[in-house]
This record gives sequence, structure tokens and C-alpha cells, in this order.
Amino acid sequence: MKDGLEDVIAAQTMLSDVDGNAGRLVIRGHTLDDLVQSSSFEDVAHLLFADLFPDLPDAAALAAALGSARTKIFRHLAAIDPALLTLSPVAAIRALMARIDDGNDLVTALQLLAAPAVFTAAIIRLRRSQQAIAPDATLSQAADFLRMASGRPPTAEQTAALNTYLVTVSDHGLNASTFAARVVASTGAGLTSSSLAALGALSGPLHGGAPGPVLDMLDAIGNPRDAEPWLEAALARGERLMGFGHRIYRVRDPRADALKGALRALAASGQVVEGRTELAEAVEAAALSLLKRKKPDRPLDTNVEFYTALLLEALGFPRETFTCVFAVGRSAGWIAHTREQALHGRLMRPQSLYIGPATKVPHS
Ligand code: SDX
Repeated sequence: MKDGLEDVIAAQTMLSDVDGNAGRLVIRGHTLDDLVQSSSFEDVAHLLFADLFPDLPDAAALAAALGSARTKIFRHLAAIDPALLTLSPVAAIRALMARIDDGNDLVTALQLLAAPAVFTAAIIRLRRSQQAIAPDATLSQAADFLRMASGRPPTAEQTAALNTYLVTVSDHGLNASTFAARVVASTGAGLTSSSLAALGALSGPLHGGAPGPVLDMLDAIGNPRDAEPWLEAALARGERLMGFGHRIYRVRDPRADALKGALRALAASGQVVEGRTELAEAVEAAALSLLKRKKPDRPLDTNVEFYTALLLEALGFPRETFTCVFAVGRSAGWIAHTREQALHGRLMRPQSLYIGPATKVPHS
């Protein structure tokens, strides 16, 4: 048995390839760098959805339909149960998404693609006793999400930075949350059931729940000169350094540099708190050196979550919503994998090795 299904190929896919040794992510034949340079999140969703929905329109029409879906989804917030605001943001959007019909069509897909952005923005404001802001269907997903969350139009640099993030995290092979989506899809359940299963998997600290704790670590360290002793002590306590290591990447996660670039662009326009990037780079350098020393036989490099944390903080998202923001981008991949599994896969039902008590033979 392969603990954690390590190295087990559990599905074949046309959607994305994660080359852990080369440190390369390819989505439908396009490298991440190519997509980050040239594509909107809507373009990438369109790329992922190709051949998976018979009525898929062109990219521009899909972007417009996504804007309309945001408006439609906003109606679910009309009678929001105040008790939802006492839940974690992930639990709150999970409860709200559960109201979406469990269909397999493009209408359902667009609602699920719109929902995490609309619901996360609303939860941010409602938790602050502010009014939720209705979507503007004419804007891009990134621009509208920032506007709904902050209450003001985002700058061009902020929109570009969030678009880079959403593209960067849109799909990533058979990660735990995408695998969960495919398992549920393989039973014949619909897109909403699969997305809810995926969201549950994403919320774990070993997966999509890591970015918030990265900020907690940076805050605890406080300044560059304390990075090494703090990290040394954490490792001595047997703790994991959030934002480092990966099941597949044995070299640097290519997404770390894509997001570091987006953060630097934001900093260049004066939209990142002074000193934050410098602290992060000092902590990263110290962590990489310590991990190399402590775990010489296990390459542990920076993963997607380290610079995610700084970028989402700079964009004004509360750290307890970082997993929700991750879902805003990854929903595109979950939906595509769910459809691919439904159209081309079989029921997923692996074997298990029984190690329980021997069978008690009844006394005759
Ligand atoms: C994501 O799969 C994906 O594609 C996921 C993702 C996506 O886009 O969907 O890329 C998103 O989930 C990124 C990862 C976010 N999580 C974190 O940053 C949490 C910290 N990272 C680790 O917990 C860990 O690296 C995992 C969970 C990401 C991967 O762990 P593995 O592959 O199961 O490796 P392991 O737990 O077996 O660890 C192997 C060794 C262990 O040492 P020993 O016990 O053998 O001595 O490496 C050590 C671990 O202790 N190790 C770490 C470490 N990660 C692994 N030690 C310190 N800090 C770390 N971060």
C-alpha cells in the first residue's frame, strides 16, 4: 500500500500536468508562465472547460455569462442566516454553496465558478457589519471580487495581481481537493456535490489551509534577524514550516515565482506594506537553508502558499479567508475535472487492506 497514495496514478486527464522534477505546471498544453503573461482567469476557465460542455460559448461570451452568474448567485444572500457569520469563512461559503442545484450543465458550472467570489466578498463585509455589495456583471472576476470585498474599485495593479493568482491556482493535477471532486463525480453525483467535497478537502492545513498560518509565522518572527532562531525552534518542536514542501515538487514550485513576481509588481506601485516583502524573503532564505540542513534527504522548497499569503494580505483579504480565495481560483479546475471524470471515468472504488481482528468463527 502506498501511504497517502504517493506516486499512485489514480486518473488520466487532459487538463493539467505537474512535473515535480522539472518544476513545471502545464494547463492544456500551455505553461504557467505563458498563461500568467497572456490570459485572464476567464480565458483559463474557458481553456479548462473545452470539450466538457456541449454548449460552451467563446471566451468572451463565457466571461459575460460568468458576470451574469455572479449577479444571479448574489440573490442567495437575500435571506442569509446570521448564524453563518459565526462559522469560519470556509464553512460559511460551503453552507451557501450547498444551496446551488446539483446539476451537470454549464449553468450550474458558472454558478459554482461565481459563488466562492460572491460569497467570500459578502462574508468579509457582513462579518464587519457592513452591507454586502452586489456584483457588477460587466467587470472581470478579479476586479469584481476585489470591488465587492473592499467596497471600492480596485487599482489596475491589484486587479492584475489577483488575476495572476487566480490563473496560477486554477488547476494543479490530482491534488487532494481535485481528487475528492473526482471521487464524488465518479459516483454520478453532480457538480455541486463534487465542489463541496473539494472545498472540504481544501480547508485542511496541509492543503489549502496553509496560507493563513504563513502570515501567523511571519508575524511571530517579526523581523529578519529573528528568522533563523524562530524557525530553528519550530523545527526542533517537530513543526512543519507552512509554505514549504510539496508531495510532487522536488524543486521550487513554479507558482511561487509567479506569485512573487505579482507581489513585486504590487510593491513597485507602493501597494504593499513597507518591509513586508523583505521580511518574507529573509524568512524564505532562512527556512530553505534550515530545511536543507535538517532534511538533507528530502528536497523541501517554497510552495505556492508562501507568496500567496503575502499577496492576498497586500490585496486586503483577511487571512481567515485565504482558503476561500484559493477556492475562487481552484473552482475552475474542480469543475473541469468533475466533468472529465463524469464523461470519461468509472466509479472510483480502490481496495483496502484489512488489518483488524481475525474473524471470530461462531462456536458450532
Ligand atoms: C498545497 O498536491 C498539490 O498539488 C497541493 C497544492 C495545490 O495546488 O493543490 O500544491 C497546494 O497543498 C501546497 C502545500 C501547502 N501545505 C503546506 O505548506 C504545509 C507544509 N507542508 C507540509 O506539511 C508538506 O510538505 C506537505 C503536506 C505539503 C507534503 O508532505 P508529504 O509529501 O506528505 O511529505 P511528508 O509529510 O511525508 O514529509 C516528508 C518529510 C518528513 O520528515 P520525516 O518525518 O520523514 O523526518 O519532510 C518533512 C516531514 O517532517 N517535511 C517538512 C515539511 N514538509 C515535509 N518539515 C518541515 N516543514 C515542512 N513544511
